[in-house]
Amino acid sequence: MTRTQVGIVGAGPAGLLLAQLLHRNGIDSLVVENRRRDYVIDRVRAGVLEQGTVDLLIALGVSAGLCRAGLRHEGLHLSFGGKRHRIDLAELTGGKAITVYGQNEVVRELIDARTRTGRPLYFEADHVSVDGLDSAPVLRFEHDGAHHDVQCDFIAGCDGFHGICRPSIPEGVLTVFEREYPFGWLGVLVEAPPSSHELVYTYHERGFALFSMRSPTITRLYLQVPPDEAIGNWSDEAIWAEMLARMTTEDGWQPNVGPVLQKSVTPMRSFVAVPMRHGRLFLAGDAAHIVPPTGAKGLNLAASDVLVLAHALKSFYERGQTQCLDEYSDVCVRRVWKAQRFSWWMTSTLHRFPDDSAFDYQRQLADLDYLTSSRAAMTSLAEQYVGLPPEVSFESAGLNV
Ligand code: APR
Ligand code: PHB
Repeated sequence: MTRTQVGIVGAGPAGLLLAQLLHRNGIDSLVVENRRRDYVIDRVRAGVLEQGTVDLLIALGVSAGLCRAGLRHEGLHLSFGGKRHRIDLAELTGGKAITVYGQNEVVRELIDARTRTGRPLYFEADHVSVDGLDSAPVLRFEHDGAHHDVQCDFIAGCDGFHGICRPSIPEGVLTVFEREYPFGWLGVLVEAPPSSHELVYTYHERGFALFSMRSPTITRLYLQVPPDEAIGNWSDEAIWAEMLARMTTEDGWQPNVGPVLQKSVTPMRSFVAVPMRHGRLFLAGDAAHIVPPTGAKGLNLAASDVLVLAHALKSFYERGQTQCLDEYSDVCVRRVWKAQRFSWWMTSTLHRFPDDSAFDYQRQLADLDYLTSSRAAMTSLAEQYVGLPPEVSFESAGLNV
């Protein structure tokens, strides 16, 4: 049996960021991931980083690509009734902004950083399981034909929504809050220069559409579709016809058309499991909560969770204190619910629901009209979109800034 201080299940943003935060505090960890390295890096995921997430990556020194290629956006557009309305995020929040940068690039750099530390990171692990969560946790897995039993002080369940950590918590311990939306997003990656410098969230009679980007040559677009839509139902021609019908504004703005490099459909759900701790197992990121992507909060919430967890583990190992570990779930869950509320609100404001009446359509247009003409309403959107202040300071999580 080998030993580590913190066994981390999952090499997504949550697991890898936690591993790096612990390393900076001299705390040992072992990361185990069931997928291939390339699969983890190549998955196309969301792309909006809050200011606090950018600051965290910079403080951790895993920001070379982000600083080189991240696109800082000081505003965004809401489009409805054929017109685009700009929300000046920076002006409304005292200079804060978001950065558009692919999550997969963040993960690539985090994997490189982990590898440089020389601490263990296993890809393609099989039969990953956790045991002894009440007192003496053990992380078990198979790798390259060898069986591993790792004795841990703590286990961090960073294995996403479909992972094994949350289901390892005994029945009756967790309370689950869930909402499924009656639509999904069809996402496409397009080889075409973005036709706007900033994101455009569109509310249209035919449904929601989103214009985003990954680089000066790659556009990222999304369409509201039925939740169980088969991607095979959408030829590239059909995608473009729908995209342009929803997005084109009166002044003639529309996305640049180009070859579709990748397309997929994702369902939309809100999900929270509480508490985010059971015994010596701590859940973080998508393992504990899912937000619909409309508010762009998924990755940012995962980053916030692991900052709180790293702070709590630091205070345990340095001073023997358990208070911050005990408070971990409550501190995270308060932020999670605020992000849930914001993501639900953005989703409800910008999507068409199947049972919407003509009344609902007009009401939603009025909502957007108010939102884009009241400074108070725009400020509320802006401060939530750029991200609420961190729950713990970087210094207290062992980072010099
Ligand atoms: N054993 C080991 N690893 C596992 C297991 C398992 N049984 N099950 C899942 N994993 C891995 C997944 O392959 C994935 O790499 O755990 C990782 C979880 O990563 P994410 O799903 O990216 O979740 P998280 O790190 O919490 O990041 C949240 O990522 O899902 C997006 O949009 C979401 O932006 C959000 C962010
Ligand atoms: C993306 O660029 O992938 C993106 C942007 C904003 C969102 C969701 C996804 O709200």
